[in-house]
Amino acid sequence: MAASGQDALKRQAAEAALAQVEGGVIGVGTGSTVNHFIDCLAGIKGRIDGAVSSSEVSSERLRAHGIPVLDLNAVGGLALYVDGADESNHRLQLVKGGGGALTREKIVAAASERFICIADEGKLVEVLGAFPLPVEVIPMARSLVARALVRMGGTPVWREGFVTDNGNLILDVHGLQITDPCAVEQAINNLAGVVTVGIFALRPADLLILGTPGGPRTLPG
Ligand code: A5P
Repeated sequence: MAASGQDALKRQAAEAALAQVEGGVIGVGTGSTVNHFIDCLAGIKGRIDGAVSSSEVSSERLRAHGIPVLDLNAVGGLALYVDGADESNHRLQLVKGGGGALTREKIVAAASERFICIADEGKLVEVLGAFPLPVEVIPMARSLVARALVRMGGTPVWREGFVTDNGNLILDVHGLQITDPCAVEQAINNLAGVVTVGIFALRPADLLILGTPGGPRTLPG
């Protein structure tokens, strides 16, 4: 299907991901691209058992469509997780968390056998880091973690007025060139007070579906 405009490209990627759904319980991420996926999922809700959601906002949208939202603890492992991203490199290592749902997204990704990332083609980059890297922090550690991130070469900016579904804060780190995503993911995750960094490199996506004006492009191709 030909499409243009960022939102149409997101919809195209979401529709292509729907074709990968085989039933059971689906892991569902967060964001404007996933919102399209949830709307598509509603069309086949009779064929799935429900969803494990990565955010309150996605849960609300799923329930509005009559799709049961299940507790990950009650479900165990998931066969498939579908989520968006703020950036992906060609190795399908991602930056996520623009919507602030990164911690639950990382949990659902870790619980899933297969992770399909859906995005418009503008999200594919050579080097991660142009999109400010979200880091979820425990509130009392905000300044401590920010100082450590400065020593690592970044410029953290507190996402003021935003509280995550887990009751924590977000620092958006500008100015990083993330050439070794696994090392940076581990280093930031090791800082006391960090709940999760929004790099998904230790557990990258398995398939990236990009909406493009010429139709869906999948990586690896
Ligand atoms: C949510 O916290 C993010 O990880 C989203 O998956 C990411 O921001 C992509 O969002 P869009 O689909 O709205 O671009």
